[in-house]
Amino acid sequence: MISTLQSRMLRGADGDPAPRLAYGADYNPEQWPRDVWEEDVRLMREAGVTVVSVGIFSWARIQPGPDIWDFGWLDEVMDLLHAGGIGVDLATATASPPPWLTTAHPEILPVTANGETLWPGARQHWRPTSPVFREHALRLVREIAGRYKDHPALVAWHVSNELGCHNIYDFSDDAARAFRLWLRARYGTLEALNHAWGTAFWSQRYSDWEQILPPRLAASHPNPTQQLDFKRFSSDALKDHLVAEREILREITPGVPVTTNFMVMGGTKGMNYPDWADETDFVSNDHYVHPGPQDRDELSFSANLVSGIAGGRPWFLMEHSTSAVNWQPVNVAKRPGDLARDSLLHVAHGADAVCFFQWRQSVAGAEKYHSAMVPHAGADSDLFRAVVDLGATLKTLAPVAGSEREAAAVGILYDWESWWAAEQDSHPTSLLDYRREALDWYSALLALGVRADLVTTRADLSRHQVLIAPVLHVVPAELAKDLTRYVEQGGHLVTTYFSGVVDENDHVWLGGYPGALRELLGIRVEEFGPLLAGESVELDDSTRGSLWTDQITLADGDTEVLAHYRSGVHAGRPAVTRRSTGDGSASYVSTRLGVDGLRSLLPRLLDPAGVSSELPPQARGPVELTVRRGPGGRFLFLVNRTDETVPVPGFDGEVLLGARDAEGSLVLGPREVAVLRRPAA
Ligand code: GAL
Repeated sequence: MISTLQSRMLRGADGDPAPRLAYGADYNPEQWPRDVWEEDVRLMREAGVTVVSVGIFSWARIQPGPDIWDFGWLDEVMDLLHAGGIGVDLATATASPPPWLTTAHPEILPVTANGETLWPGARQHWRPTSPVFREHALRLVREIAGRYKDHPALVAWHVSNELGCHNIYDFSDDAARAFRLWLRARYGTLEALNHAWGTAFWSQRYSDWEQILPPRLAASHPNPTQQLDFKRFSSDALKDHLVAEREILREITPGVPVTTNFMVMGGTKGMNYPDWADETDFVSNDHYVHPGPQDRDELSFSANLVSGIAGGRPWFLMEHSTSAVNWQPVNVAKRPGDLARDSLLHVAHGADAVCFFQWRQSVAGAEKYHSAMVPHAGADSDLFRAVVDLGATLKTLAPVAGSEREAAAVGILYDWESWWAAEQDSHPTSLLDYRREALDWYSALLALGVRADLVTTRADLSRHQVLIAPVLHVVPAELAKDLTRYVEQGGHLVTTYFSGVVDENDHVWLGGYPGALRELLGIRVEEFGPLLAGESVELDDSTRGSLWTDQITLADGDTEVLAHYRSGVHAGRPAVTRRSTGDGSASYVSTRLGVDGLRSLLPRLLDPAGVSSELPPQARGPVELTVRRGPGGRFLFLVNRTDETVPVPGFDGEVLLGARDAEGSLVLGPREVAVLRRPAA
């Protein structure tokens, strides 16, 4: 994966063989007259742009009618970019079907759970399971791939765009048919399906596959396992589309890497990306900041999670914004320094490319108020100057290209199945927010200056001395065994409320919660105690819990209590526990402590593993540290999370980016990023 990334994407069309960090944007020349294209290439060169993604929304332009093709303009764009030494990540253009197609075939349009059609007029109005759409899309892919297979500007293929952004859940008849096939493949027999879905409940027993539907708007809560399976199926249906396009691209251009841009950010949860990653030649991600108190923690968290999804290998930041977006309730402009710091934070977490949506800000259309590399004001602007500066910075950081993430002592397990299942309806609380809980643990670790890796269940968990698994709700028997082995071999597992409660069919593990992890944790919970919105309880270590409490009994003599409830119905009972086994331990946090509470608890959870911050005391909190490692050395990224100047004394290494003061201490200006190189041990 790294070699394809380096050999093609990072090379650019100028054929420079030296590894480098790629820099660029989505480029939509069809929105502009021909004379602007020349200026675009000139400015791209000025900014140090190496790659652009072209043709993402060009279907209607490339194929204006069923049998009409217009490639002339794209030929010219490809040639111009190549002449300018800029590589092209060429889109398959299937993201937004043209009006002639939806008029002739309205049966490709998605349908909501309520039975409403999503009409054309925006984008991504297609059913992932429509055979008609698939046929037209693949025909387009074949035409484009055939035409540009030998073009020297072509460095990668960009399948569709943000698959699932608007069409992840489709409840149409096509979806119903495909769902049944998917269920047959998963369960084999109706008997097995009836068991898994628990259809003895509410008279839901199926006697024929044709009776099964997607969980459309129903009189009350649809069957929970049906809902969970529909989420799995919907993610698989889009993955199947990705694979179908990729197969054609691989057939026609076996040497050109294929990617598609994931959306690991905010609340995007429909696509199970850890499961998609292997279907791409390299992982790409789009990220947009949602302004708020934890916004840059969230950026770091997302970038870190992408790295986990990519197995620690380098990945591609395919889109982010130079400044404001256009789709939030209020679209805040970035402050000076944010453009560079946001970009470099992604690089710190493994991005080998920094790209934006988009190159030139549109004059018309729904995204005309979305920032770009060249703003409405033109190249004579602070924004474009910041873009040029960033291009120069990325050039300086060329030695980083290709390096991988160096494992941190702490891992945070992020599990899509638990995310999906824990937040379903008809549960003890509707206020549970899986991502929020994981982010709070991450924020607390950032505040302590402790490096942590977001990992998925596919990762080698034994790389981390401490494994935090917030709300690990779905624990199949195999995972329970893996976690037990992890602890027996000296690992320190930390988990929370509503973990280990159900198996992969969303069936409760019996005998007391958290069934699958009860023995490992040495506790037993007879009843959940969710709290009302605004309600909280006090713990005897002066932290406060909200959202959830548990009625815990210690079930093992080796289990110690790290904190008790001081108020609430469980006052006097355990709130935070730890059971030690050999060199390892398993801890349980039964309430939501929030960033401040976790920050105060974490040192006690990290201590037994001997884990603490690698930063000097004054930098713990204000500075985030990440480490990448490659043949060229170990690269330490130090990111100033604050608006103040922060000295980082005692940190040696060759300064690739940043500055030291007269005493040799690294000094980070507000929002500044420094990069040090040390020899690889
Ligand atoms: C992404 C999308 C881009 C553009 C961008 C705006 O979701 O891939 O095409 O719409 O958002 O922020």
